[in-house]
Amino acid sequence: MNPAPIRIHRQTAGAQVKLAALPPLALYVHLPWCLKKCPYCDFNSHEFAPQTRSTSAPRGGALGLGRPGVEPPARALPEARYLQALVADLDAALPQVWGRHVCSVFIGGGTPSLFAPESIDRLLADVRARLPLDPGCEITLEANPGTFERQRFHGYRAAGVTRLSVGVQSFDDQLLARIGRVHDGAQARAALAEAREAFATFNLDLMYALPGQSLAQLSADLDLALGFAPPHLSIYHLTIEPNTAFANTPPALPDDDAASDMLDLVTARTASVGLARYEVSAFARPGQRCTHNLNYWQFGDYLGLGAGAHSKLSFADRIVRQVRWREPAMYIERALAGRAISSEQEIRPADLPAEYMMNALRLVEGFEPARFCERTGQSIGAIDDALRQAEQRGLIERDGSRWRPTVRGFDFLNDLQALFL
Ligand SMILES: C[S@@+](CC[C@H](N)C(=O)[O-])C[C@H]1O[C@@H](n2cnc3c(N)ncnc32)[C@H](O)[C@@H]1O
Ligand code: SF4
Repeated sequence: MNPAPIRIHRQTAGAQVKLAALPPLALYVHLPWCLKKCPYCDFNSHEFAPQTRSTSAPRGGALGLGRPGVEPPARALPEARYLQALVADLDAALPQVWGRHVCSVFIGGGTPSLFAPESIDRLLADVRARLPLDPGCEITLEANPGTFERQRFHGYRAAGVTRLSVGVQSFDDQLLARIGRVHDGAQARAALAEAREAFATFNLDLMYALPGQSLAQLSADLDLALGFAPPHLSIYHLTIEPNTAFANTPPALPDDDAASDMLDLVTARTASVGLARYEVSAFARPGQRCTHNLNYWQFGDYLGLGAGAHSKLSFADRIVRQVRWREPAMYIERALAGRAISSEQEIRPADLPAEYMMNALRLVEGFEPARFCERTGQSIGAIDDALRQAEQRGLIERDGSRWRPTVRGFDFLNDLQALFL
């Protein structure tokens, strides 16, 4: 089958971007398979049906991969071919980032921890051979407790991963079952204990406002989570995304008031143990903020490799977004043929201020006007009116050389962001 032509939208004459400097460049690598699709998830993740065995206990010594009787599907997962496709994708992308170095690497999914440590080692060696990584470059890998086996995390560490992001969501077995997770609370605790032991730093992902969740249940989740003293915590309000199983069959969720009480509990409890909220959903101890995600919020560049991955790349005269083919088999085939990109589009200069602000307003520290100009190539005058209106409504304030959302602005972030659209 012939591939569909790549859609490249170019700017019409007159609309121009001029960037005096390029922003930092991050690398994102998407590994698109999961043991089971969670009913709330709209990420590009594809259920991979592992072989089930008749054993009634997890493998000897291992704490188990998902439920008893479920074995790692690694042998049948097309790891080697996918890695080849990623390298072909990177090779084809190199001219677009030539001469630039990488500030962070994020291996996300899907469930990257389905891939063997040897595969991650190979991937990172292939990346290092082609792109210079900054000294001390943050390299994060997302892990699902349902793929946890003892020594596996040490293998990722030895491969060069510096930071594990563990997708816990909750420790409550009932709630985990309700949101369709493949692991239980005991596996989440075991994975975190191992992550803490194997890595100098790690992130813990939780969700709140889960179906039927009470404030007391969230409090118990926070007790357990904070008991692991995570250097970084991401806590997301469960959202019902279109085209998910939960969108088709909506569960009963805590109402807005209950969810707001939950967020108050989260902010109070995290602050009491020295985890500072620096973004809507992100909390960190000093020096532990996530370099990779900060780069997104500061409108940095990122090269996204892998099925369905998105890129944002700046050049002296334009800023481009790209998307890779979404379906894994198609991505592999096309990336190996040097055509990993399914669509590419220049961002219209008129859209750049809004795009910048959608990201920057998520940060507690806000942004510096000089950085706005550097990253968008536009004058701060482009957002003068919106800044004034936001200030008058008490949603944003000037703090030294920065503009930052007020507490009220953070509470009504959608209203604040809407002023810049
Ligand atoms: C891309 S997911 C990948 C992590 C890994 N696959 C896992 O689920 O353990 C990253 C995080 O996004 C959050 N997330 C995913 N879907 C969400 C939704 N619909 N609402 C809120 N948070 C969500 C979860 O906390 C999840 O850990
Ligand atoms: S494990 Fe993570 S990426 Fe996979 S379906 Fe669940 S939430 Fe989505």
